[in-house]
Amino acid sequence: MVFPKKFLWGASTSAFQIEGAYDEDGKGLTTMDIRSFKDSDTIADTKIAMDHYHKYKEDVALMKELGMTAYRMSISWARVLPDGDGEINQKGIDFYNRLFDELVANGITPIVTLYHFDLPIGLVKQYGGFQSRKCIDAFVKYAEICFTHFGDRVKHWLTINEQMVISNLPAFQGIEAQEKSIREKAGWQTYHHMCIAHALVVKKYREMGMTGGIGPVLSYSTYYPASVDPKDVLTAKQVENLKVFCLMDTHFHGKHPQYLINYLTERDLMFTMEAGDEALLANAKPDFIGLNWYTTGVVGAYSDGTDINDAKSELMPRRDRNMPGVAQFYLNPYVEYNEWNWNTDPEGLRYALLGMWERYHLPLLIVENGLGHRDTLENGEVHDTYRIKYLSGMIDNMSLAIDDGVELMAYCPWSFIDVLSSSNGIEKRYGLVYIDRTDSDPKKLERIPKDSYYWYQKCIKNNGSTS
Ligand code: BG6
Repeated sequence: MVFPKKFLWGASTSAFQIEGAYDEDGKGLTTMDIRSFKDSDTIADTKIAMDHYHKYKEDVALMKELGMTAYRMSISWARVLPDGDGEINQKGIDFYNRLFDELVANGITPIVTLYHFDLPIGLVKQYGGFQSRKCIDAFVKYAEICFTHFGDRVKHWLTINEQMVISNLPAFQGIEAQEKSIREKAGWQTYHHMCIAHALVVKKYREMGMTGGIGPVLSYSTYYPASVDPKDVLTAKQVENLKVFCLMDTHFHGKHPQYLINYLTERDLMFTMEAGDEALLANAKPDFIGLNWYTTGVVGAYSDGTDINDAKSELMPRRDRNMPGVAQFYLNPYVEYNEWNWNTDPEGLRYALLGMWERYHLPLLIVENGLGHRDTLENGEVHDTYRIKYLSGMIDNMSLAIDDGVELMAYCPWSFIDVLSSSNGIEKRYGLVYIDRTDSDPKKLERIPKDSYYWYQKCIKNNGSTS
């Protein structure tokens, strides 16, 4: 299969994971800064990160050299609006103007997420974050500012990165101090408000007459049934619905699906909806879907409560958590796992792309996909053959999915340069470019292309040929 002519070959990052300059030029603090400072004795924090704020020209030059035609990144909300919804920080606008100019001058299409986990702490202090509807207004205002200042160069917008993950992680929302029982319900209220925020931003984009497209970013793991027992098969479907599709169903159909409402009502977790919310959610069908897809899971009907996280790894942060009374998770004997229990399942990607396409018939962009590993620098080189194997399998299966009729627009593996892992510091690396630093020592942050960088360069040059 030949990838379409306009196919975007890119790579991905997010602001808090690479920019550093956490309080420079007027930037406000975010939930991700605060969270990283708590563990900063052992895990690198956001203060310097990869110093992309100062080294962006060098980074864009490496993108160009790689042959990237797209770059998926995020804007730091608190760099643009330090308190989240107060005064604009002109120096923040200036930084992104410089970055977008540099990208466009080098023929690289920016694919830009508005909100990638880093909620301005000002919004948490003032309103309790997205638990409050005031945060919805703040997000719409922030989005409008971004569209106004950057919309001439940015034509691919993504609203919220992995809304379902944010709703499940109190520290990401800034509500970790609350009681556990309250937090879970608060997470679902946050979820509902973010659904409205997404819909209103899509509508704002259209009202402003912007030329380009806009869509969400889903955290998408595919779930297989643990057996052909119909109970397991049905459970796998339920889990995929509750972890992935409920959000996209809402964005697509403009209302929350009944299966989600039933699930939450039965558990006394249902969020409050105000009169008029249905109208707010309606008529905001996205132009495309951004997918963060890494792994597949195996799930069966809930029985004895065995938890693979307890049995196999304490590190696995958020995927494949047992859902008591609904589902429990298993390891898949047919695929390989890394030390953080994320597996490599390229056929799973083809299966996932087909599922997403069949359900919505919207163009798809893979904006994250990659392998976390402890890379080693040997004589100035990184021989990450395991990553090449991972990416190669994924690209082959993308091409088969395109053959099957899926409209796939872009591939942006995670990550372009090594980033601060959202859960494991710099030890767990994903990048095509090695950043020479450790968790405790930033060193000189030298950029060193890995073997996967040169392999991907050749792959892009040959329009997706992986051999
Ligand atoms: C995605 C996030 O969920 O997974 C990224 O959008 C994150 O921000 C990536 O870094 C990998 O997860 P982790 O925890 O290994 O960094």
